Amino acid sequence: MELRTTSDGSHTLFCTAAGETYHSSAGAIVEAMHVYVSKAFDEFENICSNSLKILEIGFGTGLNALLTMLESQKRQIYVYYETLEPFPLSADIYERLNYCSLLPCDQKLFISFHNSVFDKYIEYHDCFTFVKRRACVEDFVTDNQFDVIYFDAFSPNAQPEMWTENIFQKLYKILSCKGIILTYSSKGSVKRALRAAGFKVLRLSGAGSKHHMLKGVKLD
Ligand SMILES: C[S@@+](CC[C@H](N)C(=O)[O-])C[C@H]1O[C@@H](n2cnc3c(N)ncnc32)[C@H](O)[C@@H]1O
Repeated sequence: MELRTTSDGSHTLFCTAAGETYHSSAGAIVEAMHVYVSKAFDEFENICSNSLKILEIGFGTGLNALLTMLESQKRQIYVYYETLEPFPLSADIYERLNYCSLLPCDQKLFISFHNSVFDKYIEYHDCFTFVKRRACVEDFVTDNQFDVIYFDAFSPNAQPEMWTENIFQKLYKILSCKGIILTYSSKGSVKRALRAAGFKVLRLSGAGSKHHMLKGVKLD
């Protein structure tokens, strides 16, 4: 695992096993805000709910969780945030991530995302409940219904087994009606797998150097 700095100054990691970085080299914070966080909160306005339930596939550096927490506080919208990570980072890596020097956030709070106990619910402030599961999406079971899924696995080239109709069908079932799945990939095979799983698929403008990203909507 190698620490790298992206174009907006924020860190990402290069994972040698996957052969790719955790975020776009054009900006980790810019990408996370564009693909996941802003879209999730915009969706909140569409569903007219008083809270947002978010599931993240791949906690990784914790950047999506951190930005979502900051946004929930800023907009005063209650978020329940559940995140899956089968391969948690070690402290010598996450302690070096520079997000708190770029964002209005206390480093101790960010570290506590990482060293919190799995399956423990933590209320960070009035608007943000957080829980981490040590689970692969393939094995994940839940009674929850989510409004938004952040699908942030390694790419379809690196992890083809994650981007299948079967996995997307499973995620479709745990989304509420009008719930959405968001991902940075706009690959044709991903679009087709999402459609085959039942999603209405929208191609949106991507972050940084990426032309497009995908949003899948559950219609029934
Ligand atoms: C591209 S990284 C993105 C992580 C994160 N969202 C971030 O902002 O740092 C993909 C993450 O998915 C995790 N992952 C790998 N296989 C997985 C699986 N089967 N189920 C859930 N997560 C998985 C990896 O360990 C890694 O942390």
